[in-house]
Amino acid sequence: MGKPKVVLGVSGGIAAYKACELLRRLTESGHDVRVVPTAASLNFVGEATWAALSGNPASTEVWESVHEVPHVRIGQTADLVVVAPATADMLAKAAHGLADDLLTNTLLTARCPVVFAPAMHTEMWEHPATQENVATLRRRGAVVIEPAVGRLTGKDTGKGRLPDPEEIFEVCVRVLARGVSEPDLAGRHVVISAGGTREPLDPVRFLGNRSSGKQGYALARTAVARGARVTLVSANTALADPAGVDLVRVGTALQLREAVLKAAADADAVVMAAAVADFRPAEYAGGKIKKKDGQEPAPVILVRNPDILAEISADRAREGQVVVGFAAETDDVLANGRSKLLRKGCDLLVVNEVGEAKTFGSEENEAVILSSDGSELAVPYGPKEALAEVIWDQVAPRLAVRRA
Ligand code: CTP
Repeated sequence: MGKPKVVLGVSGGIAAYKACELLRRLTESGHDVRVVPTAASLNFVGEATWAALSGNPASTEVWESVHEVPHVRIGQTADLVVVAPATADMLAKAAHGLADDLLTNTLLTARCPVVFAPAMHTEMWEHPATQENVATLRRRGAVVIEPAVGRLTGKDTGKGRLPDPEEIFEVCVRVLARGVSEPDLAGRHVVISAGGTREPLDPVRFLGNRSSGKQGYALARTAVARGARVTLVSANTALADPAGVDLVRVGTALQLREAVLKAAADADAVVMAAAVADFRPAEYAGGKIKKKDGQEPAPVILVRNPDILAEISADRAREGQVVVGFAAETDDVLANGRSKLLRKGCDLLVVNEVGEAKTFGSEENEAVILSSDGSELAVPYGPKEALAEVIWDQVAPRLAVRRA
């Protein structure tokens, strides 16, 4: 088999220079990359750079090198098209099927997966025109990753930054590995909670748990590559931001509840992978609790936190919303899992055994996925991303049935 053929479309934004790094990662990992820059993007990075880094000619217009590469051939023969950066103008053209240069022609002739990595000013990204264009592209099966939040051109900061080239590269590799031109979560909004909540006792202490957030982050990354718009509600993790997700950081169970309920309002699926504290200290001491000579410490009184999973399962924000829970068990794993599925009222419950050296913080996991229809699926020990893919394999057909 030859090298996978990737078309790297570059449109005219300042972030075009970051695409050089993406190109380098793609070529170094054995992809045959053809760069198709727009005329505007050549103001930022010149043709010679693209040709030198890719080892292939970089054409902009359909009438260049016509005898060698008819304009339709580039799209037809590609295994993946990635447009990074994708400007508001490029998203609009792609959504409306315009074809006035080589890149837009390529997008119309491509039958492979297409990834857009938008980059623009926050106002342009948030404009209803852009948002509708993005929704159209996603509905048609394109993977449009969410821009990152941070420094933009000049002094501005906000949402609209091109994610790190390394992260875009990871998305490309996942999308290529799946190899389907119509990803099964295309046009869906999924909400994932990850990490572990911390319930403050005083300004320096909290009650926490050992969840690393890796399983939730693996769910977020795989959902992006399957075409979903992803909101990741992250509690106290120390992990790199996954490209292409809307990241909401929270600390406590109550904050996590608020963020999940807000995002769930228009979500097709909600996956509660976070380890949520069942209890919180009844009182928060405004100052550090000090030890006092000759006195025993005061007992810590706890109160119940709301059960978010049970709440969203019982009161679905949308008809047909699929709700997935996790159960971390140390004993009678399956029996406890089955009764928890009933108690929580969710559609799927991913049950795993936890212990000192198991699951928490590790790169691997094994689980049984219990379904409200009575089925059980054992997922063998393996990377957390592999379990994440199996979970989406279970969610996607349930969404399809409900939408139909
Ligand atoms: N969960 C939640 N809200 C809580 C506690 C847990 O939404 N207050 C969710 C978790 O995100 C997870 C699932 O419920 O998806 C199961 O969590 P687990 O801690 O295993 O269950 P508990 O309800 O705490 O049950 P038990 O304490 O009896 O094991």
